[in-house]
This record gives sequence, C-alpha cells and structure tokens, in this order.
Amino acid sequence: MTVLLEQIAGSAGCLCPQMGQTGQNWSGGTPDALIDHIIERYHTRHRQQFPECIRLATLVEDAHRDKPGCPRGLADHLSTLAQELECHMMKEERVLFPMLRRASVGQLLAPVSMMRIEHEQHREALDHLDYMTGDLVPPQDACRQWQALYVGLRQLREDLMEHIALENNILFLDRSQLT
Ligand SMILES: [Fe+2]
Ligand SMILES: [Fe+2]
Repeated sequence: MTVLLEQIAGSAGCLCPQMGQTGQNWSGGTPDALIDHIIERYHTRHRQQFPECIRLATLVEDAHRDKPGCPRGLADHLSTLAQELECHMMKEERVLFPMLRRASVGQLLAPVSMMRIEHEQHREALDHLDYMTGDLVPPQDACRQWQALYVGLRQLREDLMEHIALENNILFLDRSQLT
C-alpha cells in the first residue's frame, strides 16, 4: 500500500470512501467491463491491503501481547486468508473469468459452484476476524498502530464483502442464467 495506514488513522474512517460504492448498474451487460472492474477495484486492492494489515497486526501483537483485547493470532489468521484469497483470485483470473468472457456457457456450473463455496469460506474467515478483534473496535487507549490496523481491516472487510456480492449476485448469476 503506497500510503501507510498509520498516516491516515485518525482522519477519515474509510481509506477510499469514493471507491466503496460505484453506483453503477452492472446487471445485464456483457461481463467484460464488470470483470475488468472486479480485477482492478478488488483483486488488485486486496493484494495491497493484506500485506499492510499483516505488517501492522504483527507490530500490535508484538507490542501488546499481554494487554487485554490484544488480537493474538491475528497476523496468522490474516496470512492464511490472504493465501486462500490469492489462490481463489488466481483461479478466477486464469480459468473462470476467461470462460465468462468467451461465454462458455455449458462449462460454467462446476467452476461457479466452487467459487461460491470458497466465497462462503471467506465470509466465515471474516466472521472469525470479527470475533478475534471484538468487531474491530480498538480499546480506548489503543496506540496509533492498533487504530490504524482496525481502520485498514474495516476497509478490507467492506471491500471483500462487496467483491463477493458483486460476483455472486451479478457476475455469476447473470452468466449462470445462460446455462
Ligand atoms: Fe474475485
Ligand atoms: Fe471470487
């Protein structure tokens, strides 16, 4: 991430509020524009968000290990989710998205079903993130890095939920109706 999260913690509660909602109606069109948007707005962004959040989680855990509320194990949890998500996004970019662009309608059911199952696993990982962090509310006396970590994680969480919803409810739904 080009701007360190510490530098913006304490200002806006959202890293890029203008990017949270596009307001664009993607339903019913060809998949090309939506796929390009998903890769640029979500896949690329997740690949920037995770390393910075993992870096901050490691710092917070090391500095505050004995403090109540410290999210011990958070860096490991984020690393696991980042690896699983990277594997998932590579499958979309290399296999499923090219099929969708070619409108290979008869072959979509199995890969789309697999992606939906993995989306559910990502949602469960976000639920565990909420559990580990007390719904991403830092203690009142949290240091700047701890606050920055939770600002970044709230944005990451929101982005990933939007990303999943866009694929499940529009990209995959529109295409699966062709099969
Ligand atoms: Fe995706
Ligand atoms: Fe996906």
